[in-house]
Amino acid sequence: MGRPRRTFPSLILLLQVLAGPTRASENSEFSLAGDYLLGGLFTLHANMKGPAHLDVLQVPKCKEYDLKVLGYNLMQAMRFAVEEINNHSSLLPGLLLGYEIVDICYLSNNVQPVLYFLAQEDYFLPILEDYSNYVPRVVAVIGPDNSESTKTVANFLSLFLLPQITYSAISDQFRDKQRYPAMLRTVPSASHHIEAMVQLMLHFGWNWIVVLVSNDDYGRDNSQRLGDRLAEGNDICIAFQEVLPMPEPDQTLTPDQRAHLSRILLKLQQTTARVVVVFSPELALHVFFDQVLRWNITGTVWIASESWAIDPVLYNLTELRHTGTFLGITTQKVPMLGFSEFRVRRAQDGPPPPNRTSSWATCNQECDACLNITESFNTILTSSGERVVYSVYSAVYAVAHALHSLLGCTQTHCAKEVVYPWRLLEKIWKVNFTLLGNQIFFDQQGDVPMRLEVIQWRWDLPLNPFPSVASYYPSERRLRNIHNISWHAHNNTVPTSMCSKNCELGQRKRPVGIHPCCFECIDCSPGTFRNQTSDEYVCQPCPSSTWSHRKDTSCFQRRLAFLEWHEAPTIFVALLAALGFLSTLATLVIFWWHFPTPMVRSAGGPMCFLMLGPLLLAYAMTWVYVGPPSVFRCLCRQAFFTLCFTVCISCITARSFQIMYVFKMARHLPRAYGFWVRYHGPYAFVALMTAIKMAIVVGNMLGTSTSPTVRSDPEDHHVMIVSCHPNYRNGLLFNTSMDLLLSVVGFTFAYLGKELPTNYNEARFITLSMTFSFTSSVSLCTFMSVHDGVLVTIMDVLVTVLNFLAITLGYFGPKCYLILFYPERNTAAYFNSMIQGYTMRKD
Ligand SMILES: *[C@@H]1O[C@H](CO)[C@@H](O)[C@H](O)[C@H]1NC(C)=O
Ligand SMILES: *[C@@H]1O[C@H](CO)[C@@H](O)[C@H](O)[C@H]1NC(C)=O
Ligand SMILES: *[C@@H]1O[C@H](CO)[C@@H](O)[C@H](O)[C@H]1NC(C)=O
Ligand SMILES: *[C@@H]1O[C@H](CO)[C@@H](O)[C@H](O)[C@H]1NC(C)=O
Ligand SMILES: *[C@@H]1O[C@H](CO)[C@@H](O)[C@H](O)[C@H]1NC(C)=O
Ligand SMILES: *[C@@H]1O[C@H](CO)[C@@H](O)[C@H](O)[C@H]1NC(C)=O
Ligand SMILES: *[C@@H]1O[C@H](CO)[C@@H](O)[C@H](O)[C@H]1NC(C)=O
Ligand SMILES: *[C@@H]1O[C@H](CO)[C@@H](O)[C@H](O)[C@H]1NC(C)=O
Ligand SMILES: *[C@@H]1O[C@H](CO)[C@@H](O)[C@H](O)[C@H]1NC(C)=O
Repeated sequence: MGRPRRTFPSLILLLQVLAGPTRASENSEFSLAGDYLLGGLFTLHANMKGPAHLDVLQVPKCKEYDLKVLGYNLMQAMRFAVEEINNHSSLLPGLLLGYEIVDICYLSNNVQPVLYFLAQEDYFLPILEDYSNYVPRVVAVIGPDNSESTKTVANFLSLFLLPQITYSAISDQFRDKQRYPAMLRTVPSASHHIEAMVQLMLHFGWNWIVVLVSNDDYGRDNSQRLGDRLAEGNDICIAFQEVLPMPEPDQTLTPDQRAHLSRILLKLQQTTARVVVVFSPELALHVFFDQVLRWNITGTVWIASESWAIDPVLYNLTELRHTGTFLGITTQKVPMLGFSEFRVRRAQDGPPPPNRTSSWATCNQECDACLNITESFNTILTSSGERVVYSVYSAVYAVAHALHSLLGCTQTHCAKEVVYPWRLLEKIWKVNFTLLGNQIFFDQQGDVPMRLEVIQWRWDLPLNPFPSVASYYPSERRLRNIHNISWHAHNNTVPTSMCSKNCELGQRKRPVGIHPCCFECIDCSPGTFRNQTSDEYVCQPCPSSTWSHRKDTSCFQRRLAFLEWHEAPTIFVALLAALGFLSTLATLVIFWWHFPTPMVRSAGGPMCFLMLGPLLLAYAMTWVYVGPPSVFRCLCRQAFFTLCFTVCISCITARSFQIMYVFKMARHLPRAYGFWVRYHGPYAFVALMTAIKMAIVVGNMLGTSTSPTVRSDPEDHHVMIVSCHPNYRNGLLFNTSMDLLLSVVGFTFAYLGKELPTNYNEARFITLSMTFSFTSSVSLCTFMSVHDGVLVTIMDVLVTVLNFLAITLGYFGPKCYLILFYPERNTAAYFNSMIQGYTMRKD
């Protein structure tokens, strides 16, 4: 020792007071002398209640508690590994590895063995400032098995940087190497176990589960972790979670606990969740499963945490096969040759057992019943294979490999040096070796990334009671090779455990309660749909040109509605238009034929052709109202007809003005009349009016649009109305206003000349036409604002044709009639007499 031991204030811990474990005799299973000792902590007995002995100053007597069959099995694995290392001398040639194994009885007896391991040969544990050069009794500790004890032990061992390798404490806390620098383990951490469980549930679509936990750290930590994991994914919900009562050491329940257990079983019987995850040490489950059998619970999928996944005692409760399917998460199986025989090998009859009367020779390094009970379970243990056993085995080998490296061993020789635990720890972190086909090394968190397996309990396969049905790879965080699960259900079908059945396509989910897994299925309403790719909680609205029925998964194209040729109104309007066209054509011919006659001249002369031309065109173009609208058709509807109309009205106005002027004012303002004639006043006026109208129409079009619009028919969702931009009714009013204005002007002139000869007076016609045009426009607008669709188009075309017909028949009709049937009135003489009559009346 480099540094002198401080005598003051060093305190000597007198372990004898605590009655430390004794060096048992050489052939005890619990100790083996050697050059370097390993400490081993195993649970051969268990007191599920935890420390129950603190009222007496005595180390608890483990053998008074329940026996834990697997604990002895694991302890044998450590012994097996040490013996194998000592037998095959290539790893530590010339050295003998020894051990001290203590039963910690789950939680009750974990401090005292640690102090024993930390003390020196003479049972003294010095209080020092610096333990760099301190050599405790053991060089490393294997175990203990559960996380709660491991934490206690690790808190001591970490102070000394004494390497500790646990084989089944899975708690994630131990990944924190700031807190537990000397703790390593040969199993994947709890998060991997939980992930494997969750992936199993996801694989089979179980999203409605029950969680039962033991009333200790193991149950609480793991259920918390599972809850957190499920909250991340949101696809699995916990129907309820219950804490199982912890039985008394003699496996009895108090009346309160019994009532509590009954409540849990009642809930279990009534719930729709068929998957039950149980996080609990196995000893607490015997009473529970007894009750499960008594309650005749069936059809359940039990998911076992690693604590009881391969428990032979529960497995021997063969009645359990009727309650459903048992699946468990545990470490991978690695066959270890010779272990099955070693497990039940009796120590040779040596000297008699050590004298137990001395004050040192305390308990907890003994287990009289262990070997016999293990023998009785040997068949199951042998056929279930080595799983956790291999974790113990590899932990011992990891220490041996580290020793090998620390002592600079060759094939034949090792330097027998003092081993300081902290130096050994450094070597253990670096080990990397192959053991029975598996690569053993510690990752950043001090875990060996061993594969996990999902196993099933099979009572029908006595040679393989826990066959693997899936594998989980920690590095990939994925469950693979799920196969050969035999479901305890009709026809071997996978049980379902869902809060609500999945909604069909065409339905959406409506949440019920707080769980995302519980919902109602609501049919999508007409006009909405849901297919595989859309959100499950909403029905998507159909795109505008389509529609859907209730509960549809897609939308269909709606029927387009527009005016069609075969419809009665179309034929009627077409007949009207044909009538208009033919009469206009006839008028044109008649006027052409009688062009020089006074009747034609009084009607406007060449200007008549200016009116008749657009009229003809307008009639000829009425087809644009029939058929699906296009840009061109809408342009026509919105602009062409109104322009034609304006040309006609302005021609008539110009003509009225001219006549009124000739008769009334030419005498007073001869020069202005000359001006009017010289510059083709009527044409200029018509051109001006047309230009203004054009400007208005173009303005309208810029404001709206000429492309057709498609809207759904509010009365029939299967129909889409195709029409020109509905805003064009605003334009229509504008147009009509201008036409009205023109008409009013024309009417004024006509009215002023009301006493003119009747063949010059158009007041009646203009009034008629104006009134008709205006009322029809107003009613059309009103109609448009109330109705929609094809009816509007019909009204529109009807009004347009009627307006033109009014001009053709109202204006030109009487004139043609006179020309054809009263040719005597169509003579210059007759006209002159009329004018003379007028002049005379006037004078
Ligand atoms: C170690 O060697 C002894 C004697 O050869 C043998 O009986 C024993 O089975 C061996 N142990 C192991 C674990 O190989
Ligand atoms: C379970 O079944 C047995 C026989 O089938 C019956 O006697 C017993 O009452 C049942 N137990 C419960 C809790 O239903
Ligand atoms: C055991 O102890 C008792 C008394 O303490 C003593 O009489 C006896 O000889 C001892 N036996 C052995 C084998 O040491
Ligand atoms: C274990 O079994 C053997 C024989 O099989 C028997 O002699 C012995 O008394 C048993 N031990 C215990 C502690 O039951
Ligand atoms: C298994 O259970 C049966 C009856 O339930 C019992 O007789 C047998 O002893 C048990 N096996 C072991 C190894 O305990
Ligand atoms: C361990 O050794 C193997 C080969 O012997 C190597 O492939 C592997 O990367 C090593 N692992 C670590 C963590 O060093
Ligand atoms: C599944 O089980 C059958 C018989 O039980 C066996 O033949 C087959 O190899 C198994 N499949 C796998 C992948 O283990
Ligand atoms: C079970 O499967 C068989 C054939 O595979 C089938 O005829 C039978 O209807 C199934 N029974 C049930 C309850 O599903
Ligand atoms: C589901 O609907 C969306 C949106 O309409 C579409 O893009 C997608 O292709 C549809 N998926 C299937 C599978 O029909």
